[in-house]
Amino acid sequence: MRMLVVDAVTDLTDGVRQIGLTAPDGGSLQSFTPGSHVVVSCGIDRQGHARRNAYSLTGAGIVPDAYSISVRRCDAGRGGSLWMHGLSVGESVEVTGPRSGFAPVLTARHHVLVAGGIGVAPILSHARAAARWGRSFEVHYVSRGGDGPHLADLAAVCAERLTTYRDAEALWTALGPALLDRPLGSHLYTCGPASLMEEVDRRASSAGWPGARIHHEHFGIGDLEPGRPFVARLSRSGLDVEVPSGTSLLDALVRRGVSVPNLCRQGVCGECRTPVVGGVVEHRDLYLSDDEKMAGDCMMPCVSRAAGSRLELEL
Ligand code: FES
Repeated sequence: MRMLVVDAVTDLTDGVRQIGLTAPDGGSLQSFTPGSHVVVSCGIDRQGHARRNAYSLTGAGIVPDAYSISVRRCDAGRGGSLWMHGLSVGESVEVTGPRSGFAPVLTARHHVLVAGGIGVAPILSHARAAARWGRSFEVHYVSRGGDGPHLADLAAVCAERLTTYRDAEALWTALGPALLDRPLGSHLYTCGPASLMEEVDRRASSAGWPGARIHHEHFGIGDLEPGRPFVARLSRSGLDVEVPSGTSLLDALVRRGVSVPNLCRQGVCGECRTPVVGGVVEHRDLYLSDDEKMAGDCMMPCVSRAAGSRLELEL
């Protein structure tokens, strides 16, 4: 975790603001792989918890002088994006990372990149790297009205390898045939609204793409059901922690003085991964793979809960 300084604020489209972050001493920042994100501390929420939002890095990743992130204002959200939109040049922000769970597969024969709306941010990062290193790739970008953020950046990077769409129907019309004839060994990457990513998944699976060649970057889990109350037993200390409906397991643990590393509290960063030694988990995160969820020996307590009345954690 370190402090960075806001050195540029630019409105890309109505509601999307690009923010540049530099080191206080003006030095270079840590390099990152395409598709990486940083986690930014964005003030305190109504419950008194520190808000931390993950933002994809859109610039070049090799010894960068600045990190560039794009923040879509969400008036009905938890307040983090509004806090970010209130930042001015010269202010300092606390930043963790970069981290990546969405890196390109370097052995892929071809990369199919699909972005929806603000999901263009990590896709732009992938496209920059693919163009720089001469990899085979194509980008499909759908945004309302065909005029989304970073359109000019993508066009400059991709040239004829970019296809834009004004609506999802146009995307499906073009992407369907494309998914059927790309070379074996191609990989598919998608970022955008959950409904778009699910539909890309569905169409890719129907076209015979194995799950291991389909990659997603999620924004966060959104609002969740409050869930039923349950008790978490901590196997090392023998402590029983009651988790009421509407309170996350992570919050219940922290209130009892149990230290659990965490960052996003949205089930996407992987930081709060906790071993499970008893009980059945209702997984609600976007981080663990299907196989890891099936194994049931770990969970993300910031969003996931017990499927029954008890869980036992290796804490
Ligand atoms: S804090 Fe990020 S997944 Fe739980």
